[in-house]
Amino acid sequence: MHCGDQPLNVSGIVMQQDHSQLTYEQLTTNLWQQLTRAPNDRHHDWRTPVLATQGLDLAGPQARTVVLRSAEYATWVLRAYTDSRSPKCSEIAAQPRVQLSFWSKRLNWQLRVSAIAVVDVDSDAVKAAWEKVRQSRAAGDYLSHSPPGHVQSVGDHSVTHGEPSSQKHHLAILTFKVQVMDWLALSQDGHRRARLTANGLLEWLVP
Ligand SMILES: Cc1cc2nc3c(=O)[nH]c(=O)nc-3n(C[C@H](O)[C@H](O)[C@H](O)COP(=O)(O)O)c2cc1C
Repeated sequence: MHCGDQPLNVSGIVMQQDHSQLTYEQLTTNLWQQLTRAPNDRHHDWRTPVLATQGLDLAGPQARTVVLRSAEYATWVLRAYTDSRSPKCSEIAAQPRVQLSFWSKRLNWQLRVSAIAVVDVDSDAVKAAWEKVRQSRAAGDYLSHSPPGHVQSVGDHSVTHGEPSSQKHHLAILTFKVQVMDWLALSQDGHRRARLTANGLLEWLVP
């Protein structure tokens, strides 16, 4: 598809074909529009980014899928839920610099988000999140007797059954303060790549 100099309509977002016409403000607005949609849209590819952390000791990089729970443009903050005993929490405590990688087949966009992560285990926000989660089918994810990654013995399924409200939960909120975003847009008319920082820098990169 050749669009010439016409604005390119990508899933309702009008982007100028000539990237030099896109301002920092326009690009960040478009990216955060997708990020804020994703937690509320089960079909949005950006709802399940890959979170990469630095493994402990000599384990090397650790990457896994998480569900994006919220995105706040005003503060450049993303959030996910996890079990506070999972290895990723110890890894973040040792090295809070992480990366989240998003890919959308529909948009043909990759977004690599470098962030500083914090594990929140007992704030009012965690209590409020648990109030919602404990009434859902996902409650069991945060109630297992043994921590995630624990080696199971035969017949041990390590999940607590019963009334979730009476059990100790291990829900933690992972808060990601975004520092840098690396956006790659694939197109037959030429790929585009840009680096954006939270403090207003926009650089166009060779894709
Ligand atoms: C589609 C999908 C969504 C997932 N969402 C989460 C999540 O939101 N939080 C989480 O801790 N783990 C989630 N997981 C499981 C993680 O990928 C991972 O296996 C688990 O958290 C253990 O990671 P760790 O041992 O590196 O801490 C998800 C897995 C899949 C396949």
